[in-house]
Amino acid sequence: MAYKVTPWEVSGDIDYGKIVKDFGLETISDHLLKRIEKHTKELHPLLRRGVFFAHRDLNWILDEYEKGHHFFLYTGRGPSGHTHLGHILPWVLTQWLQEKFGAELWFQMTDDEKFLFKDGLELDQTRKLAYENALDVIALGFDEKKTKIFLDTEYAKTLYPQALRVAKRLTFSTAKATFGFSNESNVGEIFFTSVQAVPAFLPSVLKGKNTPCLIPHAVDQDPHFRVARDILPKLGYYKPASIQSVFLPGLRGGKMSASEEGSAIYTTDSPETAKRKIMNAFTGGMDTVKEQKEKGANYSICPVYHYYRQLFMPDDKELASLERECKGGSILCGECKNRLSERVSHFLSDHQKKREQAKHRIEKFMIRD
Ligand code: TRP
Repeated sequence: MAYKVTPWEVSGDIDYGKIVKDFGLETISDHLLKRIEKHTKELHPLLRRGVFFAHRDLNWILDEYEKGHHFFLYTGRGPSGHTHLGHILPWVLTQWLQEKFGAELWFQMTDDEKFLFKDGLELDQTRKLAYENALDVIALGFDEKKTKIFLDTEYAKTLYPQALRVAKRLTFSTAKATFGFSNESNVGEIFFTSVQAVPAFLPSVLKGKNTPCLIPHAVDQDPHFRVARDILPKLGYYKPASIQSVFLPGLRGGKMSASEEGSAIYTTDSPETAKRKIMNAFTGGMDTVKEQKEKGANYSICPVYHYYRQLFMPDDKELASLERECKGGSILCGECKNRLSERVSHFLSDHQKKREQAKHRIEKFMIRD
């Protein structure tokens, strides 16, 4: 089956190799990883394991950094619901990059986008969700002195004039070809990508100095930044660089979906709920215990394995040993799920504590105008 990956729809069998070709991305070479490691002293598992698998202009970001020309980070969230573990994946790497490179982060909450694109979501709801989601961002340990979080509707006086400069250079025909709009699309949707382009050059505008930008994001957002890379040089700014992650798979197999109960674990889930979702997950196991003991299981298609690999087992030796046990049939899926639930529960209780504490600190992060 063919795949579809756009900022508003992800479906089908996702072939990341094909995405690299279709989107015109570059894969992350060992040489590039070594170059990063030279500055960071170690490599984050998300980089080491290729969970971030592609980029645009990351070599240029390092060239500039090495010349003393430091970059800022930009990422964001479309507040259409609570945060699930898939959402935090790019934020985890972003936090690490902030720490290792001392970079400022601009975090955009696109409450306008989710209002425009989702039937039945009102602006007061997307606004509330943005504040909920911001707690998850803060809980991940971003530096309050170097991180700015804003809602599009609350920072509009600053964003809007810059969005206009982008919009004037973007034709309907390009927006249509990039995002697949039709005559039925509302006009806000067609304009919206101009708003998502702004944080990639806003710090340059505010500082009066062209500053390199690096955007960590899940690969579905790439079309926005293709547009931004095309237009920003016409306004006198650098093309933003970017680094793309795969998606955390849904626990029910296939993609993670807010509408499919049990396919995602939310940061607000209780440990019991998380455990139930994990115990009901699809796996790469065989139909019977006997068969699995004989033939082993297939971890590459198993969401439980990918949860370990992407978020819950940073130690490479431990992961290699789990892979061996799984392939060799010496661990069964029930046991493997039990061990994962323990790690996830531990993460959730810690994260929820930090999320509560974030409520007292949120104003240190938010910017408005
Ligand atoms: N459009 C994104 C979403 O729906 C939110 C977003 C805005 C974003 N700016 C970004 C994501 C920059 C990644 C990088 O989730």
